[in-house]
Amino acid sequence: MKITSAVFPVAGLGTRFLPVTKAGPKEMLAIVDKPLIQYVVEEAVQAGIKQLIFVTSSNKRSIENYFDSNFELEAHLVEKNKLEVLETVRNILPKDVQAIYIRQPQPLGLGDAVWRAKGIVGNQPFAVLLADDIVDSGSDSCLASMVEAYEQTQSSILGVENVPREETSKYGIVSLDNDSKVGDATRITGIVEKPKPEDAPSTLGAAGRYILTPRIFELLERIPKGVAGEIQLTDAIAELLKIEAVYAYPFKGRRYDCGTKIGFLEATIAYALKREDLKEPLMAYMRKIIS
Ligand code: UTP
Repeated sequence: MKITSAVFPVAGLGTRFLPVTKAGPKEMLAIVDKPLIQYVVEEAVQAGIKQLIFVTSSNKRSIENYFDSNFELEAHLVEKNKLEVLETVRNILPKDVQAIYIRQPQPLGLGDAVWRAKGIVGNQPFAVLLADDIVDSGSDSCLASMVEAYEQTQSSILGVENVPREETSKYGIVSLDNDSKVGDATRITGIVEKPKPEDAPSTLGAAGRYILTPRIFELLERIPKGVAGEIQLTDAIAELLKIEAVYAYPFKGRRYDCGTKIGFLEATIAYALKREDLKEPLMAYMRKIIS
């Protein structure tokens, strides 16, 4: 089956970015001039996703507005003959890609947010992308390589990355069966949410990209609350791998954890340096403040 649906859980409270997230979504914070959510949506579209399912909450209306057309703004840009920027504003989403919004009434955890997409996803494998994690894989899409891994394994795939041992308590940490490989994907034998460094079975952390089979929904329904009193996607995946193969895929490229202030700042500098119009003035400014 082809992967054509992606779930974007964007209903969290973004407490690490307070006060700015008091009145606006973390996912709309801009890296240069595009919001975080657009980076992950572009990655998904590049991987062939046609149906974007946003799991939102009351504070997140600006995400819907962002992916919708804005007639007044477009008319203004036409009148002022600002045609280049008009194209940018009009083409946020390709014509053949549909955006669907569903609500998570309470922030009960990532697992609960994903479960809310069940009725729309239906009985097909789907992707989950967290806007916190921006992956710069050059001109390639991180999710596209995971879709290829799915096509080879026909199993759930978790995007993983080696993380510093002192940071294992921020991630779902996997253990692997290194004798069971399909291409670059390795079969997972266990996953544990946010273990202390001394308890972590490895330093391979699940990093914001998942391809999941629909079996996950029935497991999400059954699992009790886990770490932080939330329904954890990791706990459902731990159940899933008891009944199906689940693979870890170490994705290529540089990941920025934009859910943290330092990760967000690093991404801002890295993406600004990739822009022809900003590279030189930004370098000059950095040289000045460093000297
Ligand atoms: P995070 O825990 O990183 O995001 O969840 P958060 O809760 O918004 O931020 P902090 O930790 O308070 O600063 C990862 C992703 O899962 C979504 C978040 O929006 C984020 O994109 N999420 C989390 C939900 O959609 N619902 C939830 O109940 C929890």
